[in-house]
Amino acid sequence: KDESTVSITVVGASGDLAKKKIFPALFALYYEGCLPKHFTIFGYARSKMTDAELRNMVSKTLACRIDKRENCGEKIDQFLKRCFYHSGQYDSQENFAELDKKLKEHEVMGVWVSTLTEWIIPFRLSDKNITFDYWSQMDTALLLSEDIPSKGGRVSNRLFYLSIPPNIFIDAVKCTSSSASSGIGWTRVIVEKPFGRDSDSSAALTKALKQYLEEDQIFRIDHYLGKELVENLSVLRFSNLIFEPLWSRQYIRNVQLIFSEDFGTEGRGGYFDNYGILRDIMQNHLLQILALFAMETPVSLDAEDIRNEKVKVLRSMRPLQLEDVVVGQYKSHTKGGVTYPAYIDDNTVPKGSLTPTFAAAALFIDNARWDGVPFLMKAGKALHKKRAEIRVQFRHVPGNLYNQNFETDLDQATNELIIRVQPDEAIDLKINNKVPGLGMRLDHSNLNLHYAARYSKEIPDAYERLLLDAIEGERRLFIRSDELDAAWALFTPVLKELEEKNIIPEYYPYGSRGPVGAHYLAARYNVRWGDLGI
Ligand code: BG6
Repeated sequence: KDESTVSITVVGASGDLAKKKIFPALFALYYEGCLPKHFTIFGYARSKMTDAELRNMVSKTLACRIDKRENCGEKIDQFLKRCFYHSGQYDSQENFAELDKKLKEHEVMGVWVSTLTEWIIPFRLSDKNITFDYWSQMDTALLLSEDIPSKGGRVSNRLFYLSIPPNIFIDAVKCTSSSASSGIGWTRVIVEKPFGRDSDSSAALTKALKQYLEEDQIFRIDHYLGKELVENLSVLRFSNLIFEPLWSRQYIRNVQLIFSEDFGTEGRGGYFDNYGILRDIMQNHLLQILALFAMETPVSLDAEDIRNEKVKVLRSMRPLQLEDVVVGQYKSHTKGGVTYPAYIDDNTVPKGSLTPTFAAAALFIDNARWDGVPFLMKAGKALHKKRAEIRVQFRHVPGNLYNQNFETDLDQATNELIIRVQPDEAIDLKINNKVPGLGMRLDHSNLNLHYAARYSKEIPDAYERLLLDAIEGERRLFIRSDELDAAWALFTPVLKELEEKNIIPEYYPYGSRGPVGAHYLAARYNVRWGDLGI
């Protein structure tokens, strides 16, 4: 029976990510019974707040899934009772030491009940003659907690989620590691992007992190890896005979990785302007999907085996060229009497900013499997739809007997596999089919797996999976430092060139399909974007 404790500290607890994603994900894990028996959650941030105020803030973000409404209120109350708050500066060893003290107290409380019944009595009878009265004293309890491992292996594990801006990252890591690490269990730190702005700054960040943490303590999150359909990519490929044999240049014409959002930066312009869409979405989320899509079969499902294959494929890629990139920025647009703002209307964005809010790019993998196959990426904000998908367009059937009988444009009549990551998770396979009737007409139909119709369960949020993996020490879905280096090596030259040459983005109206340049880029490689009709 595992009697260890886990303390989860959300550093940056009053921020947006914590409120929108981290606390709700922790609650969902609690509801599902996935959190360890003895857990405590701490919020840490600069603002002054009491435990009750934190609970009140967190409670507003919690909800039960539609299929889990039973006892919802009760579960929320139980969960909140295990949430606490400590206010402190992100660079103060002293404040982190205070947090450490509180964590210790709670770690002791966490094992208190079981300790009392299972362990104190034998302990009292053995080497330390401590009477029961002592146990009301927390200091004694702390002493006890320090002796626990030698008595039976109870450990106190600590997970820190650093949900804070990059400029205070290293200070917080330093304080965490030197003043609030667990003495008697593991200490793991989840870090969120941005992991630098280019190869050099990312390498410097990695170097600084490794001054205070071992690589296996660092959990670099890319939340797209926690999305259900991204997890399913490997299952689809490696456990279905019909896909893997087709997964190469021999049968695949092109692969498209598409991300679009139907809203702009909305107050996040301060962060976004320093990064732009290539760093915000392409270099991480889309590239990670690409790596999983294109990697060779790993030796096993172990984290290191999978990550080894991802690194290999990333290192086989050609650095992105400027002529293979189109950048855009949204401009104001009025529709139905409503005026939608331009990117530069965001107060947090510097006037005249050229930061791209849209980009399309063509990437190539120079290995035997993918030689010559364009991997096209498209990512943008303030477009007409919210959507993330992978589209695989297969080659034309050589010498197709039915060329005359197609109702649709022949080019569109190729097979296409669409993996819709969000919303409405689905896998569609476009096939050519005979239209029922006496004649011989063919159309383009869908074999589809729509998750909402097939599975009655609500799909867990990516953060739930990733937090659980971090607690369990499963590193498969986290980015290793060599992966990160390889990813930056692909994007750094072009990012520098875009900035040095002050490349003017193509302006597109808010809510549109994005700049027309994306079509010219695709056409250069004989590709038509698959999402045109949607
Ligand atoms: C984040 C980006 O990593 O992903 C945001 O910084 C973006 O700009 C977000 O909006 C999209 O995530 P999701 O899960 O809502 O698709």
